[in-house]
Amino acid sequence: MPSISPSLSAAMVHAASSVVETMERILPKSEFAEQKLFDAMRYSVLGGGKRLRPFLVLNTAQIFGVDEDCALRAAAAIECLHCYSLVHDDLPAMDNSELRRGQPTVHIKFDEATAVLAGDALLTIAFEILADPRTHEDPNVRCALVATLARASGANGMIGGQMLDLIAETTALDIGAITRLQRMKTGELIACSTEMGGLLGKASPQHLAALRAYAHDLGLAFQIIDDLLDAEGTPEETGKPTGRDEKAGKATFVTILGADRARHQAKLLSEQAIQHLSVFEGRAKNLEDVARFVVDRKA
Ligand code: IPE
Ligand code: IPE
Ligand code: MG
Ligand code: MG
Ligand code: MG
Repeated sequence: MPSISPSLSAAMVHAASSVVETMERILPKSEFAEQKLFDAMRYSVLGGGKRLRPFLVLNTAQIFGVDEDCALRAAAAIECLHCYSLVHDDLPAMDNSELRRGQPTVHIKFDEATAVLAGDALLTIAFEILADPRTHEDPNVRCALVATLARASGANGMIGGQMLDLIAETTALDIGAITRLQRMKTGELIACSTEMGGLLGKASPQHLAALRAYAHDLGLAFQIIDDLLDAEGTPEETGKPTGRDEKAGKATFVTILGADRARHQAKLLSEQAIQHLSVFEGRAKNLEDVARFVVDRKA
């Protein structure tokens, strides 16, 4: 059974190559003494990855007829922020990981201090991109994009989730607490991706709520499968070390429910996510397909 439909595959390839081209254009190069910082930023951002968050921004924006160049800038912003989260997640003080997207992690390729700084610079450039008038002509929309990304990536979103994830290594968490952790560390940025597409298109509150509900379920399904791949996948398939969660004694859906029930739960969440898209009456086909891909993926 192919896990990805040909039309989704083409749409994902298109989104990935367009966002890479945009980031290649936006990300600075330097000939000054600090060049290493810029090299590390570009190394982190330009080398592979599924580009799921850009895909969600672009395909949500498309529903509302947003100009593609504007959507691409927002997509580039959230991908820079995601890459920063990966660079810091891989550091020795966090997951101590040496492989990412099939390549040495930034602190291995460069050094730890450079990885911290490259992450910091990718975080800040995300907001610089969103605040630029080329991202949207309406300053209210730009302000909403900045505020939404700040909320999703901060202490009540991704970073708070990363803190809980560290706590999960030493404290027994129940399924409710793990659900909250996963929604924060992964779900919030995924929800932010669809919300940004909606904000760019000045979507109605009803449409924004549907997108949030979709992404809420999608994000949780996505992280359950990430944990399953850590338990069952290989570094060759996933491009990152596997078997780390168990070794770290980290509680996940997989350690609590077992692999089969965790996979079943992810499938249910994906189906539920798709149902939230019914308000778009068939205009969100790629978002439906990507929800199926997320639970069938091998990387
Ligand atoms: C990995 O994200 C980190 C998580 C939030 C699980 P992705 O699986 O989207 O990583 P890339 O961008 O495709 O490498
Ligand atoms: C990290 O989760 C989520 C982030 C916010 C970066 P993981 O630690 O499980 O992600 P991977 O498996 O290293 O990609
Ligand atoms: Mg981690
Ligand atoms: Mg990790
Ligand atoms: Mg993982």
